[in-house]
Amino acid sequence: MDHVTHLESLAHELEDGLNQASSFEDLEQLRITYLGRKGRLAQILDTLPSLPKEERPIVGQKGNEVKNRCNELFAQKMQQLVQAKEAAELAHFDASIPGRTPWRGSLHPDTLVMEEICSIFAKLGFRVAQGPEVEIDHYNFESLNMPPDHPARDMQDTLYITDSILLRTHTSPVQVRTMLATKPPLAIVVPGKVYRRDSDLTHTPMFHQIEGLMVGHDISMAHLRGILTAFVQAVFGAQTRVRFRQSFFPFTEPSAEVDISCFLCGGKGHAHGDVCRVCKGTGWVEILGCGMVDPAVFACVGYPEDVSGFAFGLGVERIAMLKYGIRDLRMFFENDLRFLSQF
Ligand code: DAH
Repeated sequence: MDHVTHLESLAHELEDGLNQASSFEDLEQLRITYLGRKGRLAQILDTLPSLPKEERPIVGQKGNEVKNRCNELFAQKMQQLVQAKEAAELAHFDASIPGRTPWRGSLHPDTLVMEEICSIFAKLGFRVAQGPEVEIDHYNFESLNMPPDHPARDMQDTLYITDSILLRTHTSPVQVRTMLATKPPLAIVVPGKVYRRDSDLTHTPMFHQIEGLMVGHDISMAHLRGILTAFVQAVFGAQTRVRFRQSFFPFTEPSAEVDISCFLCGGKGHAHGDVCRVCKGTGWVEILGCGMVDPAVFACVGYPEDVSGFAFGLGVERIAMLKYGIRDLRMFFENDLRFLSQF
């Protein structure tokens, strides 16, 4: 068989092959066999140099014709297969099936609790203030009535950056910063991160606090009690009772810790015959520290002697654990979506 006939029958064979092909894999196989670098067409054209001189242009031209024809056949078949695939997909498409709801993120329980608490205090006339997490010793300790060798500094395991720069151990320094920048009267809440060199089952090196401060004329312990009662009843329910226990903080005098009646057992100390797991049978749950601002703090910020005020500080994770029944503090910081997406 001469080369020209050979080339023509090659095109026919390919056409038959393509007619039978039913998948993209078949198509690719045919392309390799016929048009590939070592395929049938290439094999014939490779012999061109050995042909007699006068035959070469004729065979070469035929080769090009066949090649173009083959490419065309391939393109046609490819289009057919694509259309068939689309038609098959459409046949299964049911526009009446409800769509998949895209997954939505949710707010972290810390964020939820901070937003809730700040908005309760906003309704009571407090504004939100903020301050830096990298703080100077002076604001974190000294102006809060804790001079360098004050034993109360041991209450807080501090992470120091230099001798005088540290990661704030509480949100209380924002009291000082705000008073330095604002004349009384004022009422602020300060949500934020705080840091301590502490890490075990119930302590994490970073956690959140909310600080509160109200300063003016004739602000008394009664105002403190009224405000805190309104606050805990908004968070834990109107039936919640409040108890003040005498305590100590260097920056308040007198100082108190506040307990609320247990929201699980209602203050009875037991639920369903068992000792209540939230209050451990006492009927009360501690939720924050507070007191009347110590005159030494007012002196430090240059406030006149006739002002008075109260302050309080609470742990956000603690409130969130109580409110949502979360038992393990570490869950707050593991970023496990199975936990986070429940809020
Ligand atoms: N700063 C205290 C702490 O981190 C909490 C605190 C207690 C803040 C009493 C206050 C307060 O403003 O009056 O342990």
